[in-house]
Amino acid sequence: MLVCVQGLGYIGLPTAAMLALGGHGVYGYDVNTAVLDALANGASNVKEESVRALVRRALESGNLTLCDRLPHAEAYIVCVPTPTVGHRPDLHFVAEAVRALAPHLAPAGLLVLESTVPPGTVERVVATTLRAAGRNPDELAIAHCPERVIPGAIVRELTENDRVIGGRRPGDAERAGELYSSFCRGRIHYTDALTAELVKVVENTYRDVNIAFANELALLSEELGVDAHEVISLANNHPRVSILRPGPGVGGHCIPVDPHFLSNANPFVTELIQAARRINERMPHVIQRRIAEHVPLGSGATIALLGASYKANVDDTRESPTTRVVELLEESGYTVRVYDPVAGSYVRPLCDSLESAAAGADALVLLTPHDCFEGIDPEAVGRLMRRRVLIDAHAFFDRDVWRLAGFAVYALGTRGTPLVGEEIAV
Ligand SMILES: NC(=O)c1ccc[n+]([C@@H]2O[C@H](COP(=O)([O-])OP(=O)(O)OC[C@H]3O[C@@H](n4cnc5c(N)ncnc54)[C@H](O)[C@@H]3O)[C@@H](O)[C@H]2O)c1
Repeated sequence: MLVCVQGLGYIGLPTAAMLALGGHGVYGYDVNTAVLDALANGASNVKEESVRALVRRALESGNLTLCDRLPHAEAYIVCVPTPTVGHRPDLHFVAEAVRALAPHLAPAGLLVLESTVPPGTVERVVATTLRAAGRNPDELAIAHCPERVIPGAIVRELTENDRVIGGRRPGDAERAGELYSSFCRGRIHYTDALTAELVKVVENTYRDVNIAFANELALLSEELGVDAHEVISLANNHPRVSILRPGPGVGGHCIPVDPHFLSNANPFVTELIQAARRINERMPHVIQRRIAEHVPLGSGATIALLGASYKANVDDTRESPTTRVVELLEESGYTVRVYDPVAGSYVRPLCDSLESAAAGADALVLLTPHDCFEGIDPEAVGRLMRRRVLIDAHAFFDRDVWRLAGFAVYALGTRGTPLVGEEIAV
């Protein structure tokens, strides 16, 4: 089939490459010419090496062609952003993409929306935009095939995960399934478009609610004087319990965003979802407060943050809790430095070494539990700092080792948090 993938970001780029290697003729189109130029020069916005290798192979196969104008195609796959603005879904990228493809999609062609969307988008935005552009949506096959990959393992998950494909009309999902079965080795589950739209946002909302529960447990455990991590790990021995881990907030551009798609659909029946969002959005404030309890303001108090990525071992910094922690600390008057050797582009300059971040700092704050931070030597880093204070938002480090090195240690959700003023000055 001759396919055009619209939007060559984290999702569209590997999908285009997979389809090309699956034997389809694929056009990769993006409105941002910098994205196309980078790809033409062997670079890419997506830093994962397995994605880059996949794209290289697809380009070399001759089946993937980059284009800066929309071509005629038998199928279009829309992979454009779907952000929220002020917690409300912003679907203008989807509407613009559909408006643009309308004149180029073949008669009786296939349109697949991959972007994560609020329930009802296929009907309210896709079909309506097609009609306004002079195409009859009932004469096309239209399906929603949400993407469920995890950054860090995109290529493996693209091939191995099950897919849910929802059709706008009977038979539409199966038409899309023919395309996806060229690379998807997981099961393909067919349903209607509205159900597929809900499935995707429900999956992410489930994780947001579960993390909020873990965060609530962390704060309760601190008050009760127990270790939330031990509680969660023991509770998870139960065969039907699976609580996620507490942390400084929820990042990435899926989990903190998608719950709003549900709560906007009906604010009156989504109280649990809204409460979970509030709890997770409060976590950067909790970290800021714990820092303030350990590091008095004044005399150029400096905080060194470890981690800018939104989660461990990925370069993606979008919606990272670190960004909010930085804002809150700077608003309070602290000087802030951020060190992250894994993160890709970030909204502010990053320190180029642990040493430059820690020199003269009054606290070290672990916000992203990258594996590469495991080997940090508390004695060596402590010698560089003005005060030996460790704030660990993931209970990642061995607290006894750091305490032995003279650090006052606070770890989110743990008992035995030293009281204000207990930190040991060097
Ligand atoms: N990144 C993830 O891990 C992930 C996982 C599952 C689902 N999703 C969903 O997939 C969708 C895409 O996300 P992403 O991470 O790939 O975004 P991205 O920002 O990495 O890439 C989107 C690309 O679309 C391009 N674009 C915007 N408007 C366009 C248009 N009209 N025509 C052609 N190109 C256009 C942008 O220039 C950009 O390169 C979103 O709805 C997102 O929620 C993302």
